[in-house]
Amino acid sequence: MGNSYDLRKRLFLYLICGIAAMAGLLFGYDTGVISGAILFIRKDFNLTDAMTEGVVSAVLLGAFLGSLFGGRVSDLVGRRKILIGAAITFVIGSLVSAISPNEYWLGFSRALLGLAIGISSFAAPLYLAEIAPFEIRGRLVSLNQLAITIGILASYFVDYSLASTESWRWMLGIGVFPALILAIGLIFLPESPRWMMMRGREFEARKTLASIRDVEKIEKEVLEIRESLVETDSNWRLLFSDWVRPILFLAVGLAFFQQATGINTFIYYAPSILQMAGFKQAQGAILATLGLGFVNVVATIIALPLIDRVGRRPILLGGLAGMGFSLFIQGMTFYLKTDGWLHLLSVSSMILYIISFAISLGPICWLVISEVFPLRIRGLGVSVASSINWASNFFVAITFLTMVNTIGPGGTFWVYSVLCIVAAIFIYTVVPETKGKSLEEIEASLRKTHNVEVASPSGLLVDLEIERFYKVRPKAQHRED
Ligand code: BGC
Repeated sequence: MGNSYDLRKRLFLYLICGIAAMAGLLFGYDTGVISGAILFIRKDFNLTDAMTEGVVSAVLLGAFLGSLFGGRVSDLVGRRKILIGAAITFVIGSLVSAISPNEYWLGFSRALLGLAIGISSFAAPLYLAEIAPFEIRGRLVSLNQLAITIGILASYFVDYSLASTESWRWMLGIGVFPALILAIGLIFLPESPRWMMMRGREFEARKTLASIRDVEKIEKEVLEIRESLVETDSNWRLLFSDWVRPILFLAVGLAFFQQATGINTFIYYAPSILQMAGFKQAQGAILATLGLGFVNVVATIIALPLIDRVGRRPILLGGLAGMGFSLFIQGMTFYLKTDGWLHLLSVSSMILYIISFAISLGPICWLVISEVFPLRIRGLGVSVASSINWASNFFVAITFLTMVNTIGPGGTFWVYSVLCIVAAIFIYTVVPETKGKSLEEIEASLRKTHNVEVASPSGLLVDLEIERFYKVRPKAQHRED
């Protein structure tokens, strides 16, 4: 009886996380779909190079703004509500882009989709991290990354299937279906219990926890969350305070290196890279791209259980070694420039690169960013780091082809390879291990590292702090038990 009850709670938790991760699916689909659709849009609207770049990069710009400004909103209105806002924006953006009468409407609707992507990119992992039990938080938050990779694969597949009829409007419009599922699903999801505690709604937080946790674990979790809420500084002051600044630095660094090590040169330009590497037929290059998308999904699935078992740091460092090595080989194949087995080497190194990214920086970047900030400003911190991720994404996307033209593809991949070494040194030096710790224990140990003794992770509350906490939020005095 007890067991089946626990199983029900576990299933409910997975259902909640599955629905929230649909935001990742839209992130992946709407960023990936344009690579195939743009060929036909260009033809239909007679776009110049500059206009084409405008339509393609509108999403990245929107995502930058959405992630930058969404953070404070998510701290104010809640994680669930901001995700609902993003889902509705996904619906509108997909519809408008599918029926756009000209390139201006298209650019506008793609920027709107970008806003939704930017918001989802930080709010979904944040929501998942705050609702997940710490033992399996790595894998639950990374469901979002799995959904991103599935979305990318789906977009490649849709592009490939609709290419013969040049139906770019359908390619863009299909995104409306997962967006509707997300919007409807979110209506039934509970708000993040940690966010509710922050707003002084402990009673509701306890109710949510009771529906997804074993009863005996709830009290400890609630106490720990309360302890972490003693901060009184204003939001931006706290973000730049002595002890949070290093956290901001590590989160922003991770976000930057996730992009600066070159992943989206493969995700956005794979067919062009494959053609540069000798796949003369566009059809073959596109099929090989589908293959890469598939490898990305499978490697992410393999990564999920490892993240909580092996830990974030060793996987990140191992993954970066694989990425750096494969980029080096990739660069070399361009210098040797012959066909035959070198083609094979080029494709193999691409596969190794995708696998190495998919098990490491892909999921773990978003995971660690959503774990390290103190609750009081978690939304703000995560969103600032995400906006750096989108800005770096934009920068890599617009410089890649120029770099290829000036220093050649070989030199370009070597630059990314060197950046992998820099990223590994950065991670080795500043990124903490967060495996097996509750968000509150992570916060407490980061405070300790930086000599800020306010809360202890032991579950013992300092009376003075409780008093201060209740004075600030009188509603939290309500104890339902
Ligand atoms: C990155 C995206 C990338 C995707 C590839 C995500 O974690 O943020 O920029 O396209 O992984 O799987």
